[in-house]
Amino acid sequence: MGYKIVVVGATGNVGREMLNILDERQFPVDAIEVLASRRSIGTEVSFGDKTLKTKDLDTFDFTGWDMALFAVGSEATKKYAPLAAKAGCVVIDNSSLYRYDPDVPLVVPEVNPEAVLDYSKKNIIANPNCSTAQMVVALKPLHDRARIKRVVVSTYQSVSGAGKDGIDELWDQTKSIYNPVDNKEFNKFTKQIAFNVIPHIDVFMEDGSTKEEWKMVVETKKIIDKDIKVTATCVRVPVFVGHSEAINIEFEDHLDEDEARDILREAPGVMVIDKREDGGYVTPIECVGDFATFISRIRQDSTIDNGLNLWCVSDNLRKGAALNAVQIAETLGQRVLKKG
Ligand SMILES: NC(=O)c1ccc[n+]([C@@H]2O[C@H](COP(=O)([O-])OP(=O)(O)OC[C@H]3O[C@@H](n4cnc5c(N)ncnc54)[C@H](OP(=O)(O)O)[C@@H]3O)[C@@H](O)[C@H]2O)c1
Repeated sequence: MGYKIVVVGATGNVGREMLNILDERQFPVDAIEVLASRRSIGTEVSFGDKTLKTKDLDTFDFTGWDMALFAVGSEATKKYAPLAAKAGCVVIDNSSLYRYDPDVPLVVPEVNPEAVLDYSKKNIIANPNCSTAQMVVALKPLHDRARIKRVVVSTYQSVSGAGKDGIDELWDQTKSIYNPVDNKEFNKFTKQIAFNVIPHIDVFMEDGSTKEEWKMVVETKKIIDKDIKVTATCVRVPVFVGHSEAINIEFEDHLDEDEARDILREAPGVMVIDKREDGGYVTPIECVGDFATFISRIRQDSTIDNGLNLWCVSDNLRKGAALNAVQIAETLGQRVLKKG
């Protein structure tokens, strides 16, 4: 016997990827429903070799369904996730709405799988922000060995992190620069994204940081250790899929770069590609469609006592969202629901 699964936001970037990953990982599905807004009723989405027709979230009854993988914005999540949870269907949510709620576990299965057991307070489990998810996969095994004191991270985040409208804007703007025929308005990003970079993701906070940067700080603390200090600069770059991060880590104990490389080679979800030669590292285009978080450019930071630098790349629609959500569903299934 398998699970009855609902994919909410099935016409979006993350929703479509969740359907691909459920199929690729042969998640034991007995029944599946795909939901989106009313405007998408009847839109076809693929699930393996099947084509499913999207239904309206607003009229759906979650009673009798095991898990709902939510990939809609916070506003729709606020309205519909509690209804699903109340109907007995466990919500695994990709929005930021519940991530900081003390009664909702924030889970990256390679890092804190045991946290899923706390799902029952609200019947909801939160997925972290895409840039946090890949970073904590890299940090956790190093923290276990040498205790991380401080992390300085700069991100290079792809436009797919801003939803399907983000992808469309980069595509249309790039074409319009070569062929400025139609005076199309661009309003997804705050400045031109084609052939440019924008040091601004999500809204500004009072202290001058952005909410994306704040999310990396508080989510890392909630997932790994409240004592880790993180400072982040998050930047949108004209890449369609795949987030990159330059990470500087300061440890309490000494950690040699060779030992760090060995630890990361053994770490779950990590793939080390680190040759000190032309092309001996991973770039975002190479990580698309992959499950792994890729680590390259591991090297000592000689400006502090116990410091390392590394380069971390992952498919933001996968480890940053859809894959992590399916891994949470797998973990909840294996540890709690025990079907399949
Ligand atoms: N993209 C990433 O890298 C990433 C990473 C982590 C988390 N997330 C989060 O995941 C969620 C989805 O992101 P995305 O990138 O997939 O966005 P997207 O491509 O814009 O897709 C949004 C989906 O939500 C549906 N939707 C929106 N409002 C709705 C409503 N009122 N009722 C029902 N369905 C509604 C849309 O349906 P229609 O097609 O009918 O409009 C669509 O299926 C967001 O909360 C986002 O912050 C995204």
